[in-house]
Amino acid sequence: MKNIVILISGRGSNMQALVKSNIPDARIVAVLSNQPNAAGLAWAKAQGIETASLNHKDFPDRTSFDVAMMSLIDAYQPDLVVLAGFMRILTPEFCRHYEGRCINIHPSLLPAFTGLHTHRRAIEEGCRVAGCTVHFVTAELDNGPIIAQGVVPIADDDDENSLAARVLAIEHRILPQAVADFVSGSLKIEGKRVHNSRLVDTSICLLS
Ligand code: GRF
Repeated sequence: MKNIVILISGRGSNMQALVKSNIPDARIVAVLSNQPNAAGLAWAKAQGIETASLNHKDFPDRTSFDVAMMSLIDAYQPDLVVLAGFMRILTPEFCRHYEGRCINIHPSLLPAFTGLHTHRRAIEEGCRVAGCTVHFVTAELDNGPIIAQGVVPIADDDDENSLAARVLAIEHRILPQAVADFVSGSLKIEGKRVHNSRLVDTSICLLS
């Protein structure tokens, strides 16, 4: 059985998708947040999952928050830490501490559009496809080895919100899949490549 700690900052729909997918041999031991009022925390608590928060505003700097967050996380002895909409830039110390056992979901087809406002930027750049990526976390933002990607089309009349909704539906598919692959031990990291990584291509079905 693998212990999983999930970190969120807001509504937690990816966290919910993960919990609902009931991955064999995986136990969600805690849902943690940097936002005490994150809606996802209330949902997790209602499912009987342990929750806790540490407000980053209570810490003088990034390092002290990350140190406190690491000790909170480690109290649950996780095999895997999942960043599911955890909207914090992490220190290199945090990334090193969880190297190979911390994954993030990002709403773009990395390495394109790291950082924020990914959907708006993809539309502005005239991209015909967009998507999402689950990757191992490394010290460089949104840049670790890729475990799974999902692809969706961009329609002529898309705006940031319509595209975000289309991508989010695929996020909810690839994140549980990536976690299941991690738990089953099928992923093998070699440099930046992950053997047995996945592609979900929904470009044909969604616009026709
Ligand atoms: C998702 O789009 C995720 O990719 C990004 O932040 C959003 C979080 O949404 N990092 P939710 O909290 O999982 O609903």
